Amino acid sequence: MIKEKINKNSIDFMPINGTDYIELYVGNSKQAAHFYKTAFGFQSLAYSGLETGLKDRESYVVAQDKIRLVLTSPLKSGTEIGRHIDQHGDGVKVVAFIVDDATYAYETAIKNGAKSYFTPKTEKDDQGEIIKSGIYTYGETVHVFIERKNYSGIFMPGYRKWKTPEYNPPNTGLKFVDHMVGNVGWNKMDIWVNFYQKVLGFSQILSFDDEDISTDYTALMSKVMSSGNGKIKFPINEPAEGKKKSQVEEFLDFYEGEGIQHIALSTDNIVKTVTDLKSRGVEFLKVPSYYYDSVLNRVGKIDEEISQLKKLNILVDRDDEGYLLQIFTRPIEPRPTMFFEIIQRKGALSFGKGNFKALFEAIEKEQELRGTL
Ligand code: FE2
Repeated sequence: MIKEKINKNSIDFMPINGTDYIELYVGNSKQAAHFYKTAFGFQSLAYSGLETGLKDRESYVVAQDKIRLVLTSPLKSGTEIGRHIDQHGDGVKVVAFIVDDATYAYETAIKNGAKSYFTPKTEKDDQGEIIKSGIYTYGETVHVFIERKNYSGIFMPGYRKWKTPEYNPPNTGLKFVDHMVGNVGWNKMDIWVNFYQKVLGFSQILSFDDEDISTDYTALMSKVMSSGNGKIKFPINEPAEGKKKSQVEEFLDFYEGEGIQHIALSTDNIVKTVTDLKSRGVEFLKVPSYYYDSVLNRVGKIDEEISQLKKLNILVDRDDEGYLLQIFTRPIEPRPTMFFEIIQRKGALSFGKGNFKALFEAIEKEQELRGTL
């Protein structure tokens, strides 16, 4: 059903082939890289910094199957990156798209109302060239278009291979970015839905109102935008009136603006992946134990042992196409802002609507401890 709603015309309008990388501005890129390797099973890929001729910043690139994270920190005071970290804490700055033509993508986006981050530029080394360009989206988050068809190097010009022969923890089975959720301000959701439609040719595939997503205390609204080929999905949340402060408001307060709330990473075996992540110290949200008393009545027959899901706190939901299994980490930095979701889809194309209530109650319990409910 959901697939049918995807606007086929948008494929010609703005060909985006997938997510190229996600760049986070972080306080300590070296330690962050170690964390993503040790805790999440990412592999060392590329590096740029003083040794490659940069004077003001350092980046480590880590990869797991199709997922690439770039972790960037400043090397001195007074930089734009440092200011970003001071305001927002660690967080996503760039969501980069793979495109066939970064100049065409940029010009089309600007023509349709996007604000420029940087104009198309070519970067070369002895492995070839890439062309890149960039536009702003919500908050200070940006999209960078990457054209890499004439490049055969490890990541991009300016980077060299990051070799860590003595420390390469095994992966945890994470495959690709399933979706990335943005939190935007009061009454801003439709503005950004419109932006993704007009500027990037995305289509709206789902929407949830505050009736769908509310507990006794907190509420939010969400619309899910999808790229023409369906490979990129961006749910966009805005807060809704509730008796107490919603998790979206808490995010906006602590991030000091709009930004990426969570990155959902796909696995083919969530039980194995989550067991592994837990043993490496990744912390997950705990839903109330009564969740498992009724879950099978709601979702019907599933392949997994419910006792195992309960032990790991993995959630299940079903839609017309199949079911999905999902779990959410606690925030991965001091501020209660960004977190990860681990998701395994068994046919389902939706986002776990049936789990929202239990999940929000789990989040509220944590908000209460933080005194931010
Ligand atoms: Fe999600």
